[in-house]
Amino acid sequence: MELQQAIHTRRAIREFTSEPVDKAVLRRLINAAIQAPSAVNEQAWSFTVVLDQALLGRISSDSKAHLLRTPPPGALSHHLQEILNTPNFDIFYGAPALIVISSTTQSPWAVENCSLAAENLMLAACGEGLGSCWIGFAQAWLATPEGRTALGISAGQLPVAPIIVGHPKSVPPPVPRKEPQIRWIGP
Ligand SMILES: Cc1cc2nc3c(=O)[nH]c(=O)nc-3n(C[C@H](O)[C@H](O)[C@H](O)COP(=O)(O)O)c2cc1C
Repeated sequence: MELQQAIHTRRAIREFTSEPVDKAVLRRLINAAIQAPSAVNEQAWSFTVVLDQALLGRISSDSKAHLLRTPPPGALSHHLQEILNTPNFDIFYGAPALIVISSTTQSPWAVENCSLAAENLMLAACGEGLGSCWIGFAQAWLATPEGRTALGISAGQLPVAPIIVGHPKSVPPPVPRKEPQIRWIGP
């Protein structure tokens, strides 16, 4: 797939078929992720691939409970509270795979590095005909001692980007973009 096409057609996918994603394909996505630039070329990222559906279910329910118990700064909107209170709402939308990108250092650029890797991974997924979505709902719980233990993420690592991957059942229409604010300086 041509780069501009991938950039413009990638969507946050929230409906998946039950078909698993081949491990070799997941490996290719991770290989694309690690081509991202990183500050001081540290490449300080690690990838936890969760294919265990029972564990995905547990992360989903524990993440919802955690967010309702400990809302992020600025509090949760009424709409988000309603979603999180829906018992059968799966924050992973039934995706067959979750890839959590974690920083392996306390670098001041930990979030930037992992986010760049995440975008590469999502564009590569699009190029493979797969769907993906960053699941921010999972981030807070994954960083708790329980979340870290469940995924084997050590205290020195920071889970940054939980990305679901699967075969899309449906692709939503493009989300309109706001006009960019651009300030030109210079001739
Ligand atoms: C940091 C971050 C966190 C996100 N968290 C969630 C989430 O928890 N659940 C969800 O359904 N989508 C989540 N998304 C996806 C966005 O809602 C989506 O990217 C946005 O609506 C634009 O749609 P598009 O990706 O199709 O262009 C997240 C995206 C980012 C970048």
